[in-house]
Amino acid sequence: MIIAIDGPAASGKGTIARRLAQHLNLPHLDTGLLYRATARALLEQGHDLSDRAAAIASARGLALTDFDEAALRGRGMGEAASIVAAIPEVRVALVEMQRGFALRPGGAVLDGRDIGTVICPEARPKIFVTASVEARATRRALELKSRGEKVDYAAVLEDIRTRDARDSGRAAAPLKVAGDAVVLDTTKLDVEAAFKAALAIVEATLAAQSAG
Ligand code: CDP
Ligand code: CDP
Repeated sequence: MIIAIDGPAASGKGTIARRLAQHLNLPHLDTGLLYRATARALLEQGHDLSDRAAAIASARGLALTDFDEAALRGRGMGEAASIVAAIPEVRVALVEMQRGFALRPGGAVLDGRDIGTVICPEARPKIFVTASVEARATRRALELKSRGEKVDYAAVLEDIRTRDARDSGRAAAPLKVAGDAVVLDTTKLDVEAAFKAALAIVEATLAAQSAG
């Protein structure tokens, strides 16, 4: 079983993916970390985010190990990730790693922007997690505060709007709902309710598969 979870920033897709993976005892890959790590490596080597050749080299040199998640989740890294993620060759460099993970025997849960549309079009179910931009900004601001970052809601809202526009507007694997995805709007759901709704979608898929 390959479960694809896509959606915009701070919609709750990572939390849902992690919870589903735990519950179903499947491995989980947060594919956003690959783009965040690509951007971070680039900056650490003293390159500019607009240096396409360096961004491509950085993506090609990436390994699934050694991710410093705490550093990768900082406020500036989401924005930096979305800049390098718009470069088609960066995306191509990361496909094999994601496909390899998805095709592990026994299955996997992957979350990102293009899992159901590009990385695993064969995934079942595909869940597109979304929420109002205000709810997402409130969540992300709380999350960053709890990590000790000084943030104000207006700045986070602006970050998310910019990122939504870039991720949806790019030519290479834009953020969009796959034709066969189930949309899960978590605006009014807490983490537990969102997880339960996602699990119900997975269970309905399993029931339909075993019915033949
Ligand atoms: O958690 P959040 O949604 O804020 O960010 P993320 O999932 O870590 O993704 C960071 C950025 O990486 C996104 O804004 C996308 O530009 C890019 N990304 C992508 O293009 N494709 C993916 N499968 C995952 C992330
Ligand atoms: O992966 P993505 O960026 O879509 O979001 P996340 O990292 O799963 O969630 C962002 C923040 O919102 C986390 O601190 C969650 O605990 C919180 N949250 C949520 O995920 N789902 C809700 N229904 C409500 C809050």
